[in-house]
Amino acid sequence: MPKIFSGVQPTSIPTLGNYLGAMKNFVTLQEGNDCIYCIVDEHAITLPQDPVEIQKNIHNLAALYLAIGIDPKRSILFIQSEVPCHAQLGWIMQCVSYMGELERMTQYKDKSQGKNAIPAGLLTYPPLMAADILLYHTDLVPVGADQKQHLELTRDLAERFNNKYGEVFTIPEPYIPPVGARIMSLAEPTKKMSKSDKNKKATIFTLDSEKDIIKKIKSAITDDEASIRYDREQKPGVSNLLDIYSLCSGRSVDDLVSAYQGKGYGEFKTDVAEAVVGMLKPIQEKYNNLIESSELDEVLDEGAEKAYAIARKTLKDTEQALGIGRIN
Ligand code: TYM
Repeated sequence: MPKIFSGVQPTSIPTLGNYLGAMKNFVTLQEGNDCIYCIVDEHAITLPQDPVEIQKNIHNLAALYLAIGIDPKRSILFIQSEVPCHAQLGWIMQCVSYMGELERMTQYKDKSQGKNAIPAGLLTYPPLMAADILLYHTDLVPVGADQKQHLELTRDLAERFNNKYGEVFTIPEPYIPPVGARIMSLAEPTKKMSKSDKNKKATIFTLDSEKDIIKKIKSAITDDEASIRYDREQKPGVSNLLDIYSLCSGRSVDDLVSAYQGKGYGEFKTDVAEAVVGMLKPIQEKYNNLIESSELDEVLDEGAEKAYAIARKTLKDTEQALGIGRIN
């Protein structure tokens, strides 16, 4: 069966962008594939985190993974730092990487901008991500469009290693959805929706209350043309709401555009909000039942054990190919 791997950083409650661009597909890909999903806490500390907050976020993210429909009987769910092979292969991938290619990563450029003390982990973030993926002989990596460049680097590093030391790694493909790969900020629809946006109206979080979701969508920036049509360039705000509406309702963008011919933005936004609330409500209910349950620790213990069994073999093969440690 094809192998799937992906991860989410426990830096806050995931956003609607994280869910629609990536996590929703984690669930559907469980059908017919071997899936491994990770809480990438080592990636989260590439920028300083409050220890109490990140601990809470790890727990919450585990609950959310299950609430959206990750089935621990079918898929492996684990915490990155609990499988030491990630940091170990991450180091090896750093040794395979060139400074120039790491410095060219747009996420590195964005996140290091304006800092006079740049954590080295921001630069070496992509080799660790490559390690995550390569440890499990992953075929397909479901991510949003912002991770495409990291995926290309992962492929380059794997090919570079294989060419030099022998075929150890599977070359992974990104799985980027045709709609939803880049959900935009509600306040500035030419910018990606992001967890860390300072503008509280820009981002919907998956655990937001109904009232907050309605408020945020009602205040979403549109344009003054007063017509509902899809045009990412000229009408980024309306197009973003159409994408969100389509993904939350299961109706196609074309269908929505014809249904809202001649209707105003007020009515449209009310219906978008209703679709988002309707989609998130059952997830939030499951989340609330899971958050206090002991099931979470059991799932994470079992996940770490299963992930380790796979990862240690790939790490050993990599070390043997490099000739480090004792060969047996
Ligand atoms: P993170 O935690 O920033 O985001 C998790 C996933 O959500 C996607 N995403 C979006 N998709 C659509 N619209 C948006 N506005 C939006 N914002 C975020 C991201 O593309 C991502 O798929 N580097 C990864 C974490 C990671 C990883 C991995 C992923 C570490 N190791 C191995 C895959 C495989 C990240 O920053 O995720």
